Amino acid sequence: MSLIHQTIAVIGAGNIGRALVRGLITGGHIDPSKVRATRRNRNALDILQEKLPGVSLGTDNKEAVKGASVIVLAVKPANWLTVVEEIREFTEPDTLIVSVLAGLTTARIAQEFPANQPVIRTMPNTPMMVYQGATAVCAGNSASDEHLQLVREMFEAVGRVEKVPEYLMDAVTGLSGSGPAYVYMLIEALTDAGVKQGLPRSTAFRLTKQTVLGAAKLADQTDKHPAILRDEVTTPGGTSIAAIAELEQHGLRTMFIHAVATATERSKELSGN
Ligand SMILES: NC(=O)c1ccc[n+]([C@@H]2O[C@H](COP(=O)([O-])OP(=O)(O)OC[C@H]3O[C@@H](n4cnc5c(N)ncnc54)[C@H](OP(=O)(O)O)[C@@H]3O)[C@@H](O)[C@H]2O)c1
Repeated sequence: MSLIHQTIAVIGAGNIGRALVRGLITGGHIDPSKVRATRRNRNALDILQEKLPGVSLGTDNKEAVKGASVIVLAVKPANWLTVVEEIREFTEPDTLIVSVLAGLTTARIAQEFPANQPVIRTMPNTPMMVYQGATAVCAGNSASDEHLQLVREMFEAVGRVEKVPEYLMDAVTGLSGSGPAYVYMLIEALTDAGVKQGLPRSTAFRLTKQTVLGAAKLADQTDKHPAILRDEVTTPGGTSIAAIAELEQHGLRTMFIHAVATATERSKELSGN
């Protein structure tokens, strides 16, 4: 099942759907003529068409899925059932259903299709808009390793991919699905911290962004344990250890552990698990 030979219909060309289509096209992973994408707002589609020449964009979900070998469900969870009711009679038995929907299990999605319809569930995140997404994938009962590999290739066009067992998808949602929000809060807070010390806001913002980006790249490229990387910044009796002591006193680590646990629980609640 090579990606280049698929016909992909993305239902819901919003933040996630649009980023996926753009990644697939700009990376040359698939010919634009083999990609269809829909949303209801025609003005937004016109704007998108300029950015995605050659992709078939429209408001008609039924037309989009006819003859598609892969259907990506990328609407908000509140809209998914309406969409599925609309498209399912135009879906072939071997059409692969790919979901980015938060909180919907592969079993729940498969229930809405004829028996043995292959379903793959994913949990991407918004940095996929700049090709730096972190996406977890898991396969439903009727999906094969080939299906999983195909979806891995699709999301590798916009970042990195991890295969996880489905029971961990709520944890993934709490960690990397919602994770960009935590990092933006960190960026905002550090910028304010710089401003408090007298730095112009624009300077503090640029320094903070580059520090977060650089630290992430260093952690990624060296693959060193973060505690070792932290030690490398920490001179005995110096400034970093003074700040680290403050952060520890305010329970930074416990705060993140509890935040991700709460988000994971919320994901479970939303998915009825
Ligand atoms: N944002 C995140 O951080 C994130 C992370 C992981 C997973 N997700 C999941 O990704 C999905 C999409 O999220 P998003 O942030 O991309 O939302 P979004 O920007 O609101 O995109 C959803 C799109 O669906 C379209 N839509 C709604 N009803 C439709 C219909 N009946 N037919 C065709 N298109 C329809 C909407 O456009 P119109 O209103 O023009 O129709 C909108 O562009 C959600 O299920 C979410 O759980 C999101």
